[in-house]
Amino acid sequence: MKILCIGDIVGQTGRGMLYKCLPDMIKGKKIDVVIGNGENAAHGNGITKKVYEELCGIGINVITMGNHTWGNKEVIPLLHYNENIIRPANFDKSCPGKGSVIIYASGKKIGIINIIGRTYMMPSDSPFAAVDAEIEKLKAETNIIFVDFHAEATSEKIAMGWYLDGRVSAVFGTHTHVQTADEVILTNGTGYITDLGMTGPIYSVLGMDRKVVISRFIDGMPQKFEIAEGKGQFCGAVFDVDEGSGKCTNVERIWIRE
Ligand SMILES: [Fe+2]
Ligand SMILES: [Fe+2]
Repeated sequence: MKILCIGDIVGQTGRGMLYKCLPDMIKGKKIDVVIGNGENAAHGNGITKKVYEELCGIGINVITMGNHTWGNKEVIPLLHYNENIIRPANFDKSCPGKGSVIIYASGKKIGIINIIGRTYMMPSDSPFAAVDAEIEKLKAETNIIFVDFHAEATSEKIAMGWYLDGRVSAVFGTHTHVQTADEVILTNGTGYITDLGMTGPIYSVLGMDRKVVISRFIDGMPQKFEIAEGKGQFCGAVFDVDEGSGKCTNVERIWIRE
């Protein structure tokens, strides 16, 4: 079974890259499931109902989120009424939505968990304790489990990969918007990459207009971030999973530039 995971989809350019790349990729690589990080999908900040429907229509089966989950209030009913959009499991218990889901594809059950890091991030509950609890729930139904660890620090992400090695099919990082070239199968069979990278505007600072970001770094004065225009890129990875054992047998990193 092949599962394609797509890094932070940023705004219209990111969604445009999905239209350009996804249909051929699903067909050509015989992809069974597509997981995409949608925390920046609506103009760089959060997700709206219209954008959610667009992503599902293009072929994304499960949408994960991150620190920009609450960027647009339309996410609240989306999380309430739709199983296939999840937010970090280690957000406070009172938050709307769920931190994991099981979907059916190609006759199999696939579990997806979303967690968020604590290093250089806003305070949250322990991602380690949260992922343990979610795995216990999902393991009763499937041994094909994917984890989106939305985190800043490479060390925290690598530690999570090893923490989960042998217990889940794959751990992929999101959030930094910069792809890492460290895809690997860990020693007990878990596929891993520190960050999938960004699906959005190439000539930007993490998807934002570079002039505004440079100016903010120079004088430190507040200025509204604007999404960058221009050419796009598509970033992600395809994980092959043995359906019997749930172990990863191959990781292919993908970075397509316009
Ligand atoms: Fe992001
Ligand atoms: Fe993020």
